[in-house]
Amino acid sequence: MSDMQIGDAFRQAMRRMAASVSIVTAASGEERAGATVSSVVSVSFDPLSLLVCIHKSSRFYDMINGQDSFCINLLDRRQADISDKFSRPASESDLFGTGDWQLHNGLPWLKGAQANFFLEKKETCHFGTHAIIIGEVRDIFYADEISPLIYLNGAYTGAC
Ligand SMILES: Cc1cc2nc3c(=O)[nH]c(=O)nc-3n(C[C@H](O)[C@H](O)[C@H](O)COP(=O)(O)O)c2cc1C
Repeated sequence: MSDMQIGDAFRQAMRRMAASVSIVTAASGEERAGATVSSVVSVSFDPLSLLVCIHKSSRFYDMINGQDSFCINLLDRRQADISDKFSRPASESDLFGTGDWQLHNGLPWLKGAQANFFLEKKETCHFGTHAIIIGEVRDIFYADEISPLIYLNGAYTGAC
């Protein structure tokens, strides 16, 4: 396959990968930032840890790069509008103006999400365009009902 062919095949193949949608957030004093991500993966049980891949040219990377902690908000299927907001460049007041955002240990967390993971940043690895950020879980909230927002074939869906 040529480079172009394998790039196209990669995009088409990835459309077939269902992924949960999260908003990762961080704060510096009064300033808050966040980004929609589908790259959250659990790393280990001991220590409890998750990773997220962040594009290094995003504004969110500039924020999370300088912080010791971050929050992963695993979205509910009814929160697609909030996911849309955090996947487009916008001002902080516009971003956090939709949804019930609260603060816990200085980190913005979204009430009504499927789960909120509060993490201490432990490692950042660099690969290509992205930074792989690994955090140890320090606190967790989660919803009773299981109804995650899923991204598949370029569109949102709920779990079957
Ligand atoms: C469903 C979905 C999943 C995404 N997953 C990621 C991801 O895992 N990592 C990432 O860096 N960007 C991801 N993005 C793109 C970011 O949300 C977007 O580029 C970023 O928020 C741009 O804003 P910023 O430059 O203001 O930070 C995703 C977007 C969508 C819609």
